Amino acid sequence: MDKHELQDAVEDLHAKYQPLRDGQVATYIPELGKADPDQFAISLVTASGRTFEAGDCERPFTIQSISKPFTFGMALETYGHSKVARHVGVEPSGDAFNAINLQQGTNRPHNPMINSGAITITALLHACHGDETFDRMLERFSVAAGRSLSVDDAVYESERRTGHRNRAIAHLLLNFGMVHEQAEHALDVYFRQCAILVTCRDLAVMGATLANMGRNPLTGDTAFEIGSVRSMLAIMFTCGMYDYSGEWAYRVGVPAKSGVSGGVVAVVNRQLGVATFSPRLDARGNSHRGIEVCSELAARFGLHAFDCLNAGSSFLELVL
Ligand code: DON
Repeated sequence: MDKHELQDAVEDLHAKYQPLRDGQVATYIPELGKADPDQFAISLVTASGRTFEAGDCERPFTIQSISKPFTFGMALETYGHSKVARHVGVEPSGDAFNAINLQQGTNRPHNPMINSGAITITALLHACHGDETFDRMLERFSVAAGRSLSVDDAVYESERRTGHRNRAIAHLLLNFGMVHEQAEHALDVYFRQCAILVTCRDLAVMGATLANMGRNPLTGDTAFEIGSVRSMLAIMFTCGMYDYSGEWAYRVGVPAKSGVSGGVVAVVNRQLGVATFSPRLDARGNSHRGIEVCSELAARFGLHAFDCLNAGSSFLELVL
């Protein structure tokens, strides 16, 4: 593998999937409906900080659900695994990301990658950090991305005004004592965390930070402890693509997370962060082009965790 081969592959994939027009831009958060459906970017950052890109990798969009593995990592570092596990499980739900249901018996959300689990994680962080919670998130996400991130206030307001389903989930959690009394405050932080602005390149750097065991390869700053990264990647592998997670693990075979604004981040352990941005989504809320690009990239370069050729290790040449 040399760097020209990888840059050529990224450009080829961008040209190949640019004409794909399947899917719809999310509109249930009204402000997201204003996105240009033709936007398309691919960014790869190796665990040594080399970047390979095509398309408009500097155009900002809101992170949405891709915030979830990162807040999960923060909760693990604040409370430890056993306390977090009392509030949120680690099983794929098989349901849509915004399903209003909890695990039978325990009344926990199935996992931290769906809305109910992520709201619970944010409530846990809010119980510890109160009014500082959001600033701490923004700071940690910024370390992972290697630059100071900010919030899209219009998207935040739009979801705050219309997020009745998430409000119902928060109140169901409150009913079962899974979140503290200030559920509305926690929900407000959750809406804000979803409205953090990132670019496709930022997401690839955040992915590369996880690939590099929690240390941002561009700045050398540590964003997450190595033990949390293990848990973040494991949950992304099993639950990151919602009710498509099983098929994704089978077909693509790397930990990943998608968001309704059209981002996808995928992590090749110890080697590479991959990000795509394209706002047209399939019925499950995953970016159509994102799925196609990641599948083809994985097949072409043997990135699947269980690829018998294990060609993914060829990226190590670029990493070292
Ligand atoms: O809570 C919501 O519905 C959004 N703020 C985030 C959902 C999301 O990104 C799911 N992704 N596919």
